[in-house]
Amino acid sequence: MQTVLITGGTGLLGRALTGLLVQKGYNVIVLSRKKKDVDPAAPAISYAQWDVSAQTIDIAAVQQADCIVHLAGAGVMERRWTADYKKEIVDSRTRSSQLIADTLVNNGNNVKTVISASAIGCYGPDGQPAAPFEEHAPFDNSFLGETCRLWEESIEPVAAQGKRLVKLRIGIVLSHDGGALAEFKKPLRFGIAGILGSGKQVVSWIHIDDLCSMILYAIGNGQLAGVFNAVAPVPVSNKVLTLTLARQLRGKFFIPLHVPSFVLKLMLGQSSIEVLKSTTVSCKKIQAAGFTFAHATIENALGQ
Ligand SMILES: NC(=O)c1ccc[n+]([C@@H]2O[C@H](COP(=O)([O-])OP(=O)(O)OC[C@H]3O[C@@H](n4cnc5c(N)ncnc54)[C@H](OP(=O)(O)O)[C@@H]3O)[C@@H](O)[C@H]2O)c1
Repeated sequence: MQTVLITGGTGLLGRALTGLLVQKGYNVIVLSRKKKDVDPAAPAISYAQWDVSAQTIDIAAVQQADCIVHLAGAGVMERRWTADYKKEIVDSRTRSSQLIADTLVNNGNNVKTVISASAIGCYGPDGQPAAPFEEHAPFDNSFLGETCRLWEESIEPVAAQGKRLVKLRIGIVLSHDGGALAEFKKPLRFGIAGILGSGKQVVSWIHIDDLCSMILYAIGNGQLAGVFNAVAPVPVSNKVLTLTLARQLRGKFFIPLHVPSFVLKLMLGQSSIEVLKSTTVSCKKIQAAGFTFAHATIENALGQ
């Protein structure tokens, strides 16, 4: 039975991935900043601790793993982008990668594969006309573009150690358990479908079940290596996403309301750039590598 260690495994994606891996017969070690005890009802899941700032880690846990899935990082849209929080966003990703790479180089281990999260924030805004971003596109000259560049570079040393490295540039994850969709749902409680800015900006999204299946596919497919966009085949505008969700949750009983860009800027500060940015991203490369999506359309994804 293979063991997968998940950094940041307590998060939205980590929790869903843990469930899928256990269902498929893997053992999972959740690497977290917080101490947690094994639940006797879920013996396949164990917990280990690390402290990224202090660069300390449970070495024995890393040595038990066949594969590491690196998801840890401070939430990008969780707080306003002050200088201190921007540093935390970057450091929580790069210094954690560094700790993993150093641990692997300094200690005997059985790790064959490392799968690391990255994000489609690496790409710039769409051009005119929009050509979907493929993996060879340059990193955007923005805070998130630079964050993704540093994040992807920081995990690269594991490939030099002979580990199979897969980097997934993740789109907006749609899950009914939290994340972006929870934010989209908030105004709908009051019957308002809040369209962000013009609503024309393209959102490249992925259903959480497809993302977990893609990670499972990457774990099991020894040929897969390099960078892949993790987005569904049919991106949609913010307006289409918001109205589709509104129809599914409220039927005909909602009022569409545009939230002007300046209000978003006041509410969110610098990170409003990201919710107003149009980014059309291609998933051709992962499809060509044999991955198939269960939730290819927004209607299907929001219904699940
Ligand atoms: N969700 C999305 O739409 C989306 C889109 C693109 C990319 N991604 C990326 O995919 C990864 C997983 O996403 P997610 O939605 O599951 O994120 P999440 O729910 O915020 O979970 C991330 C986990 O990272 C750990 N973490 C948070 N701050 C940290 C810090 N300062 N230092 C070290 N660890 C820290 C936490 O685990 P502990 O508290 O247990 O340590 C947390 O549970 C993230 O890197 C995210 O940027 C997500």
